[in-house]
Amino acid sequence: MKIKVCVGSNCTMMGADGILDSLENLKETILTKPGVNPAFTLDVEIVRCVGECKKKKNVSPVVVVDDVIYRNASREEIMSIVLDKAFDHIMTK
Ligand code: FES
Repeated sequence: MKIKVCVGSNCTMMGADGILDSLENLKETILTKPGVNPAFTLDVEIVRCVGECKKKKNVSPVVVVDDVIYRNASREEIMSIVLDKAFDHIMTK
């Protein structure tokens, strides 16, 4: 899974840092535990303004997960997407 967190000024003002911190924390805690799909990888990239805030107002923070753009992304929403994917092999049994 590849996640790009926009840390342009608009997204940073609207909480991108918190999403980034939570993702890093997740990598060091839950994602190191047994039960995570061994095929799951998490690549977090920091990007500067991806341009969404120039197209439309009030879209920050913006996070791109596997090329899907999440506008007004919340920490909870992004963590939920990551955890669903990391443990998807358990849920499909
Ligand atoms: S600052 Fe994040 S989309 Fe522009």
